Amino acid sequence: MYPLIEKFQEIFGYQKSLFSYFSPGRVNLIGEHIDYNGGLVFPAAIHLGTYGVFSLREDTLFRFFSMNFSNEGLITVSLEDLDYRKEHGWANYVKGIILEFKNRGFQLNCGFDLLIYGTLPTASGLSSSASIELLISYAINELFQLKLSRQYLALLSQHVENHYMGMHCGIMDQLVIAEGKKNRALLMNTATLEINDVPARFSGYEWVIMNTNYPRKTTDSKYNERRHECHLGLKIVQKHYPVHYLCDLTSTQLEQIKHTFLNETIYRRVRHAVTEQERTLASKNAMEKQDACAFAKLLDLSHESLKTDYEVTGFHLDTLVEAAKSIGAIGARVTGAGFGGCAIALVPEEKVKDFSYLVGQIYQEKTGLKADFYFVTFENGVHAI
Ligand code: GLA
Repeated sequence: MYPLIEKFQEIFGYQKSLFSYFSPGRVNLIGEHIDYNGGLVFPAAIHLGTYGVFSLREDTLFRFFSMNFSNEGLITVSLEDLDYRKEHGWANYVKGIILEFKNRGFQLNCGFDLLIYGTLPTASGLSSSASIELLISYAINELFQLKLSRQYLALLSQHVENHYMGMHCGIMDQLVIAEGKKNRALLMNTATLEINDVPARFSGYEWVIMNTNYPRKTTDSKYNERRHECHLGLKIVQKHYPVHYLCDLTSTQLEQIKHTFLNETIYRRVRHAVTEQERTLASKNAMEKQDACAFAKLLDLSHESLKTDYEVTGFHLDTLVEAAKSIGAIGARVTGAGFGGCAIALVPEEKVKDFSYLVGQIYQEKTGLKADFYFVTFENGVHAI
């Protein structure tokens, strides 16, 4: 934290009464694109994330500085003008959260100065945006002693992502970043928000995150399109079954109404949601039995479904996943929204040493891009430091 405190002083010119927080990123082991279909998901909070140093002000101004975007300089806004502005880039996440607290009637009687430093690669599927949202909502809750629950903060942050940023995400990222547990992954029922934390390591294997470094340009619009397709699919399903969510359906039930789908794409989107739910349920059993091979098989099937039925992987992710498998990963899949970004692999310990080098080489030969690799630990949710 020391360099951040020094930097705070350099930017803001003082270092009295500082409050520091850390908000993790997340990796999703399995259960992809079903948190907006009432499904079961299996993410963990990770040690990469966003640090924030805050100091309350005496007026109602807010000043933000990000060490990751230092070329954008100091951004100053007031409590009276927090509307979204394209030119404010990353700071819109901060403004959106503050505005949402204000809109909900919470009395923020002063502004703050904020220094931010993130260790997550941005726009790579490890939830850098939810990490910053939770950093701000958690800090506001603490600094203004609002006594709101972690679940409330997660829902508020999701609301901002949906309505202020325009990304119609589910609740997975915000909830795991709020509720993460050290050395555990969270099995989260996104219909009820019930959470079970479970140890998520297989003895003899490592989780490795692999970044395609392929820029995700149109992710938000593609993501919203998938969400809409699921909505259309649900309308068809509901003509036949009294379900609330796509993930309430079984694949046998879906098979019986297959012929009623006039649009084949919508059918495939629904099939992904339904089968991914079944895979996540099966992965819970595999984890409980410490059956790494069974879990790995589910990872592979999940990737295949996201590739062919949901169409969110693409050349770079597929190439990286195939390279990982050819070098000895027993299972691998895209993690997060897809369309570029990151994948995860379950790698036998004895293969880990050369894994990044060998996979990186194949990937670079085939795509011309350099992949990055992260060996992550699973961590607690957002907290003071
Ligand atoms: C993004 C969204 C999440 C979830 C994943 C896909 O990370 O923010 O809500 O839908 O994609 O599983």
